Amino acid sequence: MKILGISGSPRKNGNTDTILKEILRGAGESDIPNIETEALFLRDYVISPCTGCELCRKDLTCSRFNDGMNLIYPKIEEAEILVLGSPVYNYNVTSQMKSFIDRLYPYYIFSDGRPGSYGSRLAGKGKKALVFSVCEQTDPEETGFATEAMARPLKALGYHICRSFPICGFFDKGAVLKDKNILHKVYSLGMELAGCSDK
Ligand SMILES: Cc1cc2nc3c(=O)[nH]c(=O)nc-3n(C[C@H](O)[C@H](O)[C@H](O)COP(=O)(O)O)c2cc1C
Repeated sequence: MKILGISGSPRKNGNTDTILKEILRGAGESDIPNIETEALFLRDYVISPCTGCELCRKDLTCSRFNDGMNLIYPKIEEAEILVLGSPVYNYNVTSQMKSFIDRLYPYYIFSDGRPGSYGSRLAGKGKKALVFSVCEQTDPEETGFATEAMARPLKALGYHICRSFPICGFFDKGAVLKDKNILHKVYSLGMELAGCSDK
């Protein structure tokens, strides 16, 4: 089983990276055999924002750009479980995460009507996801809709969302490293992840 973790933080070794690595460490150390985990960091890839050219409707891949997404698409297809993490930037995900999500558009199967119905080439494959956001404030209002901004598109693409949660109260780079409680919690969530059922 392949589990792909994706961090949308521009800040290397910041709170999002730390949480992501801890979730993947838990997943890798669970009782379920043959789990392969990989972490990737969107800041390491050039990902152009989608231009809405719609070429992917007929090409079934993005033929507008030849960029970092060409390296990431095969990983998405191979992974049964996706873990997406983003810092909260202005109540939302970072622009890196937003560009990445928009560039998943080639996986949709579109009809020609307006508004058109849609399906997904990733649906029906038992794909699952965990999404989390990290933010400074502790009032849930201040965390905005970052987790929803990741969970909803993945759901539309046919993923079963195992978990979706904000991690609040961390601002400074690496602040979360000092909170052993949170680290243990996300490690445990990682351990349970492979067993997450969509039934
Ligand atoms: C441009 C920018 C916008 C931010 N907006 C919010 C926000 O709306 N709500 C919040 O609670 N924290 C906000 N923060 C704080 C970050 O979410 C917080 O520092 C987080 O821990 C960063 O994660 P990282 O270490 O993975 O980069 C913002 C930070 C930046 C740089």
